Amino acid sequence: MVSAPMDATTLETLVSAAVAAPSMHNTQPWRFRLVPATLTLEIHAAPEHSLPAEDPHGRAVHVAAGAALFNLRLAVAHFGWTPVHRVLPDPDRPGLLATVRVTSLHARRIQPQAHLYERIWRRHSSRFPFSAKTPPTAVLRELVEAAHGEGAALDLPSTPRINRLLRITAEAEQRTRLDAARATESRRLVIQPGARATGIGVPASAMGPQDAFEHLPMRDFAARRYVAQLPSRPFESVPTIAVLRTAHDRRTDWIRSGQALQHVLLLATAHGLSSSLLHQAMEWPDLRTELCPAEHARSYPQMLIRLGYGPEGAAAPRMPAMRFLR
Ligand SMILES: Cc1cc2nc3c(=O)[nH]c(=O)nc-3n(C[C@H](O)[C@H](O)[C@H](O)COP(=O)(O)O)c2cc1C
Repeated sequence: MVSAPMDATTLETLVSAAVAAPSMHNTQPWRFRLVPATLTLEIHAAPEHSLPAEDPHGRAVHVAAGAALFNLRLAVAHFGWTPVHRVLPDPDRPGLLATVRVTSLHARRIQPQAHLYERIWRRHSSRFPFSAKTPPTAVLRELVEAAHGEGAALDLPSTPRINRLLRITAEAEQRTRLDAARATESRRLVIQPGARATGIGVPASAMGPQDAFEHLPMRDFAARRYVAQLPSRPFESVPTIAVLRTAHDRRTDWIRSGQALQHVLLLATAHGLSSSLLHQAMEWPDLRTELCPAEHARSYPQMLIRLGYGPEGAAAPRMPAMRFLR
């Protein structure tokens, strides 16, 4: 069947859905191009939005692009087409991270993930304390299966191992704050109240408090060396942390883990869970290695995902969709 041509409004909605994905420090390091002849949407890296100090190899850019790719797949299906995606499709164009070809209308076939489309607009990072209630085992199992379906593993560690992961993350957080280049890079992307709107960066209001007990090392984007411990509602004492990991650590694995991450986050949102990410230890190679227990020594952690019941989190800004189109 020949695909219907895509009008400008549909294209804008598709790109808006893609860019609602998470990206490190909300840099939105992607650009899109529609190839009309084949109805293919291309996702390109935007090097001007990379983080050279904190993400020198572009791993986080690929993870974000993978998350955007997952949203784009959902959105294409939402409009009734079948998305056919490829990751790193052209070795001669390394900046082309993925493509989604829009193929035939799928004639009302029920898409198993259709219910996730609406969650694209509801998911926000929530860096606020969660309640003590833990997510049901059945829901966590669904998240594990979702990650598996995208080619990644999602571990649900025991409390002693979670405590160890948090100690390693705290060490990474401390190092980042003391590293002048990284701290400057992160600080520049904090949006202070009343600042000129650029559509990029993390609003100070979305940063949330720091854990007064220093158990949950939430990222301090302002990278203050000594954090004033504001009295806050305590963070959950036994957090639910899932570890997303892949068997290899190539560019395809980074993009794959981004797709798995977004699938997990949207499914968690659909189940009424809030989430935030703890990525600090991924940014220090020695600490990243320490995150994996002996039985998984030959696999690569890509993200720590904190899950629980709490505030939905505030929406971080995005640039207007059409500005991402080349
Ligand atoms: C690779 C990557 C790393 C991230 N690292 C962190 C982190 O360490 N701490 C955090 O709170 N959020 C982290 N985030 C989430 C972003 O800050 C967040 O997605 C962005 O600010 C946009 O906000 P939203 O998730 O509410 O849409 C990360 C996201 C990605 C894709």
